[in-house]
Amino acid sequence: MTPHLPANKPYFPETDRAEIAAEMVKILEGGRLTQGPWIARFEEAFARHAGTAHAVATNSGTSALEILLRYFQVEGGEVIVPTNTFLSSGNAVIFAGGTPVLADISPATLCLDPQEIIRKLTPHTRGVMLVHIAGLITPDLEDIRRICRERELFLIEDAAHAPGAALNGQPAGSLADGGAFSFYPTKPMTTGEGGMITTNDPACADFARSLRCHGIAIGEENRGENKNLLLRLGYNWRMSEIQALVGYYQLQRLDEALDKRGQIARLYEVALNGIPGLRRFPCPEHTRHSYYKFPLLLEKPFLRETVARSLAGDFGIQSGSIYWPPCHLQPFYRERFGYRPGDFPVAEDILERTIALPIYPEMTAKDVERVAGAFRQILQNRDAFGGGE
Ligand SMILES: Cc1ncc(COP(=O)(O)O)c(C=O)c1O
Repeated sequence: MTPHLPANKPYFPETDRAEIAAEMVKILEGGRLTQGPWIARFEEAFARHAGTAHAVATNSGTSALEILLRYFQVEGGEVIVPTNTFLSSGNAVIFAGGTPVLADISPATLCLDPQEIIRKLTPHTRGVMLVHIAGLITPDLEDIRRICRERELFLIEDAAHAPGAALNGQPAGSLADGGAFSFYPTKPMTTGEGGMITTNDPACADFARSLRCHGIAIGEENRGENKNLLLRLGYNWRMSEIQALVGYYQLQRLDEALDKRGQIARLYEVALNGIPGLRRFPCPEHTRHSYYKFPLLLEKPFLRETVARSLAGDFGIQSGSIYWPPCHLQPFYRERFGYRPGDFPVAEDILERTIALPIYPEMTAKDVERVAGAFRQILQNRDAFGGGE
């Protein structure tokens, strides 16, 4: 029986595993398990890599987003969020007291469509959340920035998919008023669970450090009569030393991991070439894609769900969606905000047919051939998918 091929896998080369284990022993011996030197080291290194003045580690990507949204005071206001994203992008707006206003996507990039931002603007709009879907920074970024600048809206990056990605040499996390990353295990780099905020605004960084630690004064605010006192209602959203240690090692591997992901993507381009019934999403020029996911667009009658079932059941290949159902079709969003099928025609048409292929640094050329071979067989079989002639 052919072994199962996972959709993703964290990248921990042997030498890293050994070094992380040795450093972990030192942390355990030293007894400083949180708020210690590894957090500082990881944050400094991450900020340098992302090209920002500050990076603040958190316990998840969701808390990183919520901190940014609270900093921009979205309470009582609206934030435009693409319907094509992981649920927590919109959830974070709700947690921060705002309303996520969902918007349709561009079919070429799967990312927010700038025209949709304009259509969704109201007097209550406070800002926009851009999600770098699959690890692609949309070439529409400059338009989106201009739309926000002209209307004095904040722009934040949900860069959960995109550590190491860049546009015109500018890294994800440095492209807007703030960036939020996730280190969930499927992501291009992981700390098990964890997140990071990037920003050039020192007040935002201090606010983030305060909010992740219950709301206690920190940085510029931590002086005089406020010294070490509670200034706002915060949470325990800290990252532990052990997570930061893992994150530091993952960051040292990030460029190598992205190069390997890029190589797999190029192998897919060749291997999938000429297979009828599918279309690739080309990577625009001057873009460094993180290839967190490798999405493919299926032609009807093929749908992601049925193809994914066949890939898993007949070929032992795990695949993913990106994202189906989109946020507006999730029961909670439909009930709370009244969204209905048909509200976002592009997302609904494209995402139901978009399948994310396995991609991770240790995948081999043989694995790529195996996936392409499976696609060739599945897509030959139109009748089984209700296509007929
Ligand atoms: C686009 C996007 N935003 C936010 C998150 C939330 O990150 P976390 O799971 O670390 O809270 C994720 C991933 O899980 C994500 O994919």
